[in-house]
Amino acid sequence: MTSSSSHDPAAGADGTPDITPDPAGHPAPAPVSRRRLLGAVGAGAAVAGAALGAGGTALATRDSGSGSAAPGGEAAAATVDFRGAHQAGIATPSQDRLCFATFDVAQNATRADLAALLTAWTAAAEAMTLGRQVPGDEGDLNTPPDDTGEAVGLTPGRLTITIGYGPGLFDDRFGLAARRPSGLRPLPALPGENLDPAVTGGDLCVQACADDPQVAFHAVRNLRRLGFGTVLPRWMELGFGRTSSTSPQQATPRNLMGFKDGTRNIDARDENVMGRHVWIGEEEPQRWVRGGSYLVSRKIKMRMEQWDRDRLGDQQDVFGRYKGSGAPLTGHREFDTPDFAAKSGGAYVIPDDAHIRLAAPENNKGLRILRRGYSYTDGIDKTTGDLLGGLFFIAFMNSPDRFVTLQRVLGAHDALNEYIQHIGSGVFAVPPGLAAGQDWGRQLFG
Ligand code: HEM
Repeated sequence: MTSSSSHDPAAGADGTPDITPDPAGHPAPAPVSRRRLLGAVGAGAAVAGAALGAGGTALATRDSGSGSAAPGGEAAAATVDFRGAHQAGIATPSQDRLCFATFDVAQNATRADLAALLTAWTAAAEAMTLGRQVPGDEGDLNTPPDDTGEAVGLTPGRLTITIGYGPGLFDDRFGLAARRPSGLRPLPALPGENLDPAVTGGDLCVQACADDPQVAFHAVRNLRRLGFGTVLPRWMELGFGRTSSTSPQQATPRNLMGFKDGTRNIDARDENVMGRHVWIGEEEPQRWVRGGSYLVSRKIKMRMEQWDRDRLGDQQDVFGRYKGSGAPLTGHREFDTPDFAAKSGGAYVIPDDAHIRLAAPENNKGLRILRRGYSYTDGIDKTTGDLLGGLFFIAFMNSPDRFVTLQRVLGAHDALNEYIQHIGSGVFAVPPGLAAGQDWGRQLFG
């Protein structure tokens, strides 16, 4: 524990931090139901096919959830383009809910099985992001329904489905060794972690984000259903609140420690910054993955009982920010730039071991990553009664080495370590977006 007791300039007259409730960041999606959207797409397959044939753009508008009325009306306002230069779910505005799952390829599944599954996943994912059901033979009483059904009547919820490939997929099983993205290898052991194999790794990952938890869960469940016999689920995580903004247009949310999180995140609308730090560029020898990214996931447990007994002054020193306003300890407003050189009484105002000092690009040779994490809970620890939960950290970057560099510093020196532990991990190459007519199977196997 550190010991200063900084006073938030944005606090109320009685010194109480002015913790304003998160105004949710974006307006509720337009109230269009999946049933109505189906009608909008057209009752006949011909119209639906035309929408898909046009790359899904007929109904969808990228970033359409940012609040402005999108051309195309209500249906467009609740959808995010599935196709494009980059996969949705990275630079697109972060939604409120997450369902994240990893899968291993089944032992006797072949290269052809995997390619066929990825092709089927593409069609299903595209349909679901448009608010449609997984395509198939509707109404056949002798076969199970092709869509599990729990999202019928719900809005598309700005659903995005993002796929990634783990290092293990490029071993000798499927003839993919020569297509391994050059930065993709297992993460090295990192300081302070205590990883549980039950929530670590995977051959493939699927990140489904939506404004409605049932829409996100439905997406992963239906991909899992299509995967019977070819892939086996390895672990799954539900996120119930976003912990970062991907643009200052979104209000900064709070993490489970009560602090605003994402204030100095990359603004994902800035193509220049994204090009330098997040998208895999021309230097990558594997052309197929250029325009993609790497996803690093970390399940980070918070010791909430300890945190909740810590003094406000110390909590603020741990991050280097005021809890109420989110301003750096050297500033007054949330978006003030931290002054890491400022001292008071011979000591740094933002302490030596404060999280933002150690993580800031100013102190890491300009290194940046795009954070896009969620809060999670696993209920309670039955033996102690402690709440189980924390941050399901997800970040995108053009090389996993960026995460390793940052985490080596944070894991060794961060004041936050007294209150957290990394218990799960994953690293995945995220391919670029799909062009019209392309699918994940052909993209991966070439
Ligand atoms: C439970 C674990 C964590 C919590 C609660 C947490 C929370 C926060 C908070 C409250 C901020 C300040 C607001 C902001 O600029 O976003 C912040 C900043 C940041 N965090 Fe974390 N964080 C955690 C783990 C990590 C990890 C594992 C990394 C990367 C390895 C990381 C990287 C960063 C970066 C790069 C910044 C921006 C620093 C700056 O430029 O000022 N954080 N985090």
